Amino acid sequence: MKQKQVSEKAYAKINLILKVTGKRADGYHNLQTVFQSLALHDVLTFSAAAPDEVSLSTNIPTLSTEADNLVWLAAVKLKEFYGIRKGVHIDLQKNIPIAAGLGGGSSDAAATLRGLVRFWQLPWEWSSLQKIAAQLGSDVPFCLQGGTALGTGRGEKLRSLMPLPFFYVVLANPGFAVSTAAIYKALRSAEIEETANISDMLQAIEAGDCQGVLTHLSNTLEIPAFRLYPAVQVLKNEMEKTGAAVLMSGSGPTVFALFTTKQAADAAKAALEKKAKWVYLTTTHAGIGRR
Ligand code: C5P
Repeated sequence: MKQKQVSEKAYAKINLILKVTGKRADGYHNLQTVFQSLALHDVLTFSAAAPDEVSLSTNIPTLSTEADNLVWLAAVKLKEFYGIRKGVHIDLQKNIPIAAGLGGGSSDAAATLRGLVRFWQLPWEWSSLQKIAAQLGSDVPFCLQGGTALGTGRGEKLRSLMPLPFFYVVLANPGFAVSTAAIYKALRSAEIEETANISDMLQAIEAGDCQGVLTHLSNTLEIPAFRLYPAVQVLKNEMEKTGAAVLMSGSGPTVFALFTTKQAADAAKAALEKKAKWVYLTTTHAGIGRR
């Protein structure tokens, strides 16, 4: 019997707050962050291939389809963990901009784990999947479940939070990629917030307080990102002119603004069309949840 294709969506993420609290001996940084899934997503489709073969195709010609692509690595790690001899071809249709602070690559890796569990009919061993995810990248464990969650450690230790109230989200990207490692490297010791307190944001989320969420948006990584790429600050300032609460997501360079009405979001998107290379209107998303 021919094995059916399986498709899986990989949702983008933003960080509503991201406080870097220390530099670690292993080169990573400790942080406290609130991750939030967005409806914007990539689509992965899994189909059978020759035994032991893992191959990848994508709609983005510049994207590697080999071992340095997290999707390929995720498939190989899962295959090894479960001793699977079957092969798989993965087609990746990307909509999320690459190296943009929106977790696209991390989410593709997480969707690969979820999709292959379904495709190969493996058990849902959540803690094993979380461990494999954490080896793939700091944001991959969050992307496995999505929704609204607090991330600590290097971002891989998760606590689910109350679902965020629904927001329209306008994303604006200046049209260049940013290396996460370079942004962390440019962060100076004096800019690390060892006593970071994110309780105001957590309380606003707990209370479903939209205004409180908007008031407490904050990201330590804006400091090094704006220093290295002043165009990101210029874009943030342009977005703020629409009256919105704006923040850079993750290590950038995408900036986002949250709106409670579609009318306001549409107006902001229209105002930004000429100021950014890529502007996109999406919404918050409730995530996949633990299966
Ligand atoms: O975990 P991930 O592979 O996504 O991280 C990419 C790079 O970003 C790391 O190699 C590290 O330089 C930096 N990073 C960090 N602290 C974190 C997450 C990432 O310094 N919490």
